[in-house]
Amino acid sequence: MISLAIDETIARAVEVLRENDQGTYTIPTKGLYPFQWNWDSCLTALGLAHYDEARAWTEIDTLFAHQWPDGMVPHIVFHVWSDGYFPGPEVWRTNRPTATSGITQPAVAGFAVRRLFDRAKDKTLAVERARALLPKIDAWHRWFYENRDPNGEGLVAIIHPWESGRDNSIDWDDAFERVPTEGVEPYTRRDILHADPAHRPTKAQYDRYIWLLQHFRGLGWDNARLHDASPFQVVDPGFNAILIRSAADLADLAETLGEKDIANANRARAEKGVAAMERLWSDAHGQYICFDRVAGKLVDSASVGGFLPVFAAIPESRAAAIAATIERIAGKAHYIVPSHDPGDARFDAKRYWRGPVWLVVNYMIADGLAAAGHSQMAQRITQSSLDLIAESGFAEYYDPLSGEPLGGSRFTWTAAMVIEFLKGRG
Ligand code: DGY
Repeated sequence: MISLAIDETIARAVEVLRENDQGTYTIPTKGLYPFQWNWDSCLTALGLAHYDEARAWTEIDTLFAHQWPDGMVPHIVFHVWSDGYFPGPEVWRTNRPTATSGITQPAVAGFAVRRLFDRAKDKTLAVERARALLPKIDAWHRWFYENRDPNGEGLVAIIHPWESGRDNSIDWDDAFERVPTEGVEPYTRRDILHADPAHRPTKAQYDRYIWLLQHFRGLGWDNARLHDASPFQVVDPGFNAILIRSAADLADLAETLGEKDIANANRARAEKGVAAMERLWSDAHGQYICFDRVAGKLVDSASVGGFLPVFAAIPESRAAAIAATIERIAGKAHYIVPSHDPGDARFDAKRYWRGPVWLVVNYMIADGLAAAGHSQMAQRITQSSLDLIAESGFAEYYDPLSGEPLGGSRFTWTAAMVIEFLKGRG
């Protein structure tokens, strides 16, 4: 891409970020997602920082201002009222000063804060804001291992698919069979007013999302009880990799800022996590796969969550195998990286996390591959992401076969990632 085109594309991405900026937080897109989402915000901050560092720090500060007393950082903060989204605060009923959901999301904040800090032009501001965030992010990491790893295995479980961010991944299909639907209160979905129902999760999946929500609500959102009480407990390699990477990055940052205890605690979490990740490796698939903690077995599903461990410091041989597997998958898709193996009969090129390409995942995989020395594959992934933008605009996700834009449009984190990809080249 010539530099004029790069500047133009960045300007268009900044326009998307500004459109969705609510002053102290950014909504993912108008209509479909009218509140603040946890991992969306943390990754969005990276894009914001390219033109307004103070605003980028505020994005993460706002999220952490709504951290729960036990350390959890909720997946949605309902800052303002809107009837455009289901399930809203009247369904979650978490009794927080500002309404929030009652579950969490991938812990990408530690990574994002370190990256903001390392690149900061205003170092005084960066030290001040990072120092204030350190103990909060540390508390969130501690919360994960205390509440989602009750046997001290080194890996945490998600108890609701929405926590993974990969809501309807094929990874959850078997475990979801165990989630009942009796007693689900009548509801009206709002997402399918804003997006094509064929690109969204099904009604059967929504019934189970809501059953779990009601179940946890019935337990008073007491995190000490939810894990064991959930019929859905899945150890997702992607979710754990993000947490492990964030723990390692937080440890480095804490060391720089002279916070020894936080540094040591997070270093230990990251090291234990990387060692434990080995248990999720599948030779048959050439990637990591999920572990269903309730059933006590690995899940036979080759999704993009199993590539994400390259974002953490996994062994070189595993990173090389993942690069080779992506190469193989690239032969079955026009655009990479599809969220599920196109060779699997359950693959669906248009349905959310059952096949489409997502730029945030591409960003994390490319980052990890480059760090592991696989810069050619990292560049292919980056180029594929930029081709999608050029051809289909700033969509929520894309069909890996046709490149068609899917889901919400003018999407914040897609725009943020494009800025990251392009600035990284400049
Ligand atoms: C949704 O509502 O689609 C979200 O992904 C849940 O966080």
